[in-house]
Amino acid sequence: MAVKHNKIGILTGGGDCAGLNAAIKWVVNTALDHRLDKERGVKFEVIGIKEGWKGLSFTPENQAEYTEVLTRDMVAYWDRDGGTHLGTSRYNPYSSKINSSKHVISNIEKLGLDTLIAIGGDDTLGVAAKLSQDGVNVIGIPKTIDGDLVGTDYTLGFETAVEVVTRIVDSLRTTAGSHSRIMVIEVMGRTAGWLTLRSGEASGASIILIPEYDFSMERVNQILSEKRKAGTRYDIVLVAEGAKPSGSKSVTKNAKVDSFGHESLGGIGEYVANSISESLDVESRCVVLGHIQRGGTPSAYDRRMGRYYGIAAVNLAAQKQYGRMVSHLKGKFTSVPIVNVIGKLKLVDIKTMYDVESYNGTRGILSE
Ligand code: F6P
Repeated sequence: MAVKHNKIGILTGGGDCAGLNAAIKWVVNTALDHRLDKERGVKFEVIGIKEGWKGLSFTPENQAEYTEVLTRDMVAYWDRDGGTHLGTSRYNPYSSKINSSKHVISNIEKLGLDTLIAIGGDDTLGVAAKLSQDGVNVIGIPKTIDGDLVGTDYTLGFETAVEVVTRIVDSLRTTAGSHSRIMVIEVMGRTAGWLTLRSGEASGASIILIPEYDFSMERVNQILSEKRKAGTRYDIVLVAEGAKPSGSKSVTKNAKVDSFGHESLGGIGEYVANSISESLDVESRCVVLGHIQRGGTPSAYDRRMGRYYGIAAVNLAAQKQYGRMVSHLKGKFTSVPIVNVIGKLKLVDIKTMYDVESYNGTRGILSE
């Protein structure tokens, strides 16, 4: 079989997280493993695109700043690092304000890319789906600390973020206990409560408030005052940035939206902490974790999942299975059409995963 040449472009888009560099490393390692060329019938080359979709809207003058040939030597140690060495952005070539999709497609042709691997969440993969409909050979790799992407049981970055939040809660316990305070910790995750719920379960939070279930401040105060009466010295309350009291809207930092139309959430932690100290005879403090949740050394799980997803993406490229996202479903690696994934959100199932009485994780785990 004649070995064909195939140029892969790879980019990371949206919020950074752990596991991205591992996925890039394993795309490069697998694509450039020339022992496999004969069997695959393809000889790959890999071009790194910097700063997500923004990098593909380069001009002749700045093209060199946004594109770089990747080698196995360059990426050899990347899996140990958080963030993304390719850089990222929230640039949307299909937004009416930017409207650069035609320019992006012509740049993809100019670079001679046969395959484009996009590592991202709903926004980045939404652009990938549109490019796929416009004839570009795209493959997606799922990532987001929010854990809200459908079509896969795992998105890169999630477990490291849970680990980071859990360790921070551990640190806050000593100061909360010393001062006999209630610590309210605001956690990221946009409109999904996965990160807050799983970190709250791992860290043993007294109360976990998530966007999927509007809470009552009276009930929060009641739970906390019962705990005090029962002798607790301090309590930890985890609140998702998108959580809200019933009858209210999510709290936003300002009126701005990004190029995908997302508001910047934040402020609910302060509201909960103030309401607690106003109603109970106890001091409360709010800690907003912010972007610290996206940092840190990637967990072993994110390094492994980045590796497996990277390998799977190149497997798809070798089989010319375009327009698909690699995924991990029910313990198996597979792929799903990207169009089936975008524009939907996977949210916490209140019925099976959340205890609406105690505002905490479910007490019933077995499904059958
Ligand atoms: O989607 C990931 C995420 O970290 C959300 O949890 C958070 O609301 C948002 O990104 C923050 O975005 P930015 O980095 O643009 O401030």
